[in-house]
Amino acid sequence: MPSDPLVLAVDQGTSSTKAILVDPAGRVVARAVAPLAERQPRPGWVEQDAVELWHSVQRAVRDCVDPALAHRVAAVGLSTQRESLVLWDRRTGEPLGPLVSWQDQRTAERCRDLVAAGAGPLVRQASGMPLDPMFSALKAVWLLDTYDPERRRAKAGELCLGTVDSWLLSRFGGEHVTEVGNASRTQLLNVDTRRWDERLLDLFAVPAPVLPRVVASGGDFPTTRGLAPVPDGTPVRAVLGDSHAAMFAHGGWRPGVVKATYGTGSSVMALGDRGDSPALCRTVAWDLTGPGAGGAGAGTRGPVLAVEGNIRATGRTLSWLAELFGTGEQTLLDEAAATPGRVRFVPAFGGLGAPWWEPDAVAVLSGLTLGTRRGELVAAALHAVAHQVEDVVSAVEDVLGEVRLLMCDGGLTRSARLMQLQADVGGRSVARSAEADLSARGAADAAGLVAGLWSLDDLERRPRPTTGYQPVGDATTRAGERARWRAAVDRALPPAH
Ligand code: G3P
Repeated sequence: MPSDPLVLAVDQGTSSTKAILVDPAGRVVARAVAPLAERQPRPGWVEQDAVELWHSVQRAVRDCVDPALAHRVAAVGLSTQRESLVLWDRRTGEPLGPLVSWQDQRTAERCRDLVAAGAGPLVRQASGMPLDPMFSALKAVWLLDTYDPERRRAKAGELCLGTVDSWLLSRFGGEHVTEVGNASRTQLLNVDTRRWDERLLDLFAVPAPVLPRVVASGGDFPTTRGLAPVPDGTPVRAVLGDSHAAMFAHGGWRPGVVKATYGTGSSVMALGDRGDSPALCRTVAWDLTGPGAGGAGAGTRGPVLAVEGNIRATGRTLSWLAELFGTGEQTLLDEAAATPGRVRFVPAFGGLGAPWWEPDAVAVLSGLTLGTRRGELVAAALHAVAHQVEDVVSAVEDVLGEVRLLMCDGGLTRSARLMQLQADVGGRSVARSAEADLSARGAADAAGLVAGLWSLDDLERRPRPTTGYQPVGDATTRAGERARWRAAVDRALPPAH
């Protein structure tokens, strides 16, 4: 029907912004991608330009939405990279400095000091996550120390801190707001009360007036502005962290679904609030409210908690090898040797995330000989990705019970070799989503749900095509492989770990 409403979903990720247009039957009728650069001005520092990031969103939308269809966009869904943080001037809307990336390690020293001062248990209990430079709190410290050391402007309400969702929503004008799942990744939010935690604000010396108001994932967001050809004033119906959005698109509102997203880094996530594993984080998955959201399952009416483990470098490991060899990632994947031989690679470029949470871990390549060729290095990188993901899936299994099936999505899952390895390494089935942009799909699913364009029953009925991989190999071989990986990790960890 010519006037069917459409949902526009935008997934703002680390290396690109993707946009998709979805019709009422759930079909993607248009898509576009706009690349986004990152910079490493010093070792361990990773930054992006917040204005370029906004332009990449505008470009992805412009390339995706045919002007003839623009008036049919009835709802916008947004999914965003998380933890990355920017500071801007409330009056002018101009950033004061860079967007400090979630990958950035400039605050590792501060993190060590806080750990040494005994702040770890409070931070873990209140925020649900370990003290680590990946989360936004220490980035807030750096941004405020650099641009407002006395906190004078922050206290006076002249400055705004925000993760990418908050920054993009501020481009639309209106209030300084953030979505609750993104807020829970800042390490400043109390994961149980879902309010900014006074003790954490004191610890990190972050004045409350610099922080956005926390809004439910299906909450009251500013309407769009500057997303031509989509008319200004189009409602934003759902905002989710990218990893959360991917889980939603896997049908992750149902208990028992465990997913791994293979982006720049990886996130293994499942709904649940059980146990207090030091390997994992407790995170707000989403809080969706709206006419369609209550229908079929408890997993959509929020707030819903998830357990999550983050791995810093998975896709980034392959892109690093591609940069090193001056070739494309697909060429490298095609060249991967059948086995890495004795080569072991622990890509702890910015320390190690889950389950180790060790910012001082160092990247280690071992077992090289004069005969080593790049195909073995690529094979070792693929093994490292699979073992890192399996380390976190095992930790999820420890708190939530047996994981028989791992749902997978993200760029690197195009490697059938990696997907088979993932199944073999863990001895569990793997289902790879056929959808290229699963985070965008999740944002669209959620936005349409909140807008009442479809119900949870409709989403339950929608096909979610996957390719399955079954584990090959016996338990003894698998245990040997896991032990060799563990020995390699031990070489990457600092002696005191
Ligand atoms: O936690 C960081 C994550 O949200 C970034 O995701 O897809 O940009 O690597 P991605």
